[in-house]
Amino acid sequence: LFFMKLYTYHTPELTPDQELPECAIVVDILRATTTIVTALAAGAEAVEVFADLDKLKARSDEHPDQLCLRAAERGGAAVSGFDLGNSPLDYTAAVVNQKRIFMSTTNGTRAFQRVQAAPTVIAAAMLNLSAVVDYVSKTNPAEVWIVGSGWEGSYSLEDTACAGAIAHEIKTALGDRCEWGNDESIAAVCLYQQWRDRLEALFREASHGKRLLRLDRDQDIAYCAKIDTVKVVPIQTAPGVLAIN
Ligand code: MLT
Repeated sequence: LFFMKLYTYHTPELTPDQELPECAIVVDILRATTTIVTALAAGAEAVEVFADLDKLKARSDEHPDQLCLRAAERGGAAVSGFDLGNSPLDYTAAVVNQKRIFMSTTNGTRAFQRVQAAPTVIAAAMLNLSAVVDYVSKTNPAEVWIVGSGWEGSYSLEDTACAGAIAHEIKTALGDRCEWGNDESIAAVCLYQQWRDRLEALFREASHGKRLLRLDRDQDIAYCAKIDTVKVVPIQTAPGVLAIN
């Protein structure tokens, strides 16, 4: 019998330094991975993530201008001079169709960077929960890390709750063929089970949810709490580049 070991890490900083799993699932529910999933579902060609704004600019300058959108967020707000911020509601088909989005956010893009050498890297949100769980259950990697983005190095409630949703659903799908790799996975599942029917309320309680409310992004929170609205699984096709297979 083949076992999957499932690990959860609350932040990129808490992931082990010298190891990588066969498959890493990155979560930044408010809002980077929700935005990536939305952009690809709306027809974007790919999303390329950068921790550093200068690298983003240099790389996007090499791309045909009419097929390129630059997106940046710091502290929850859009960075001036960029085409887009990090509100998923701005990533409509009319805006993103066939474009490559060069994106940098405060925490989410750092999480991708941390695991980018893993053989499989996936972006997960509540929007594509079942699609991610189906993909991982079918491909059955030996070791899976669910990596929350947190906020500037510390824990964030919403990422761990979403990590718990993924862990719970994978465990439900695989049963005895999946075992917990660390205590964080069990804690994340407990958090999810406590709040699963009130995820939007949990996001509003969370410190980053409150930050977004102060920035009048009320609708973003409602949107990020939607479950299973799209079937897409963004997968890394080159370091830092996410696309739909
Ligand atoms: C991040 O990457 O830190 C978040 O996605 C912040 C945000 O809500 O834009």
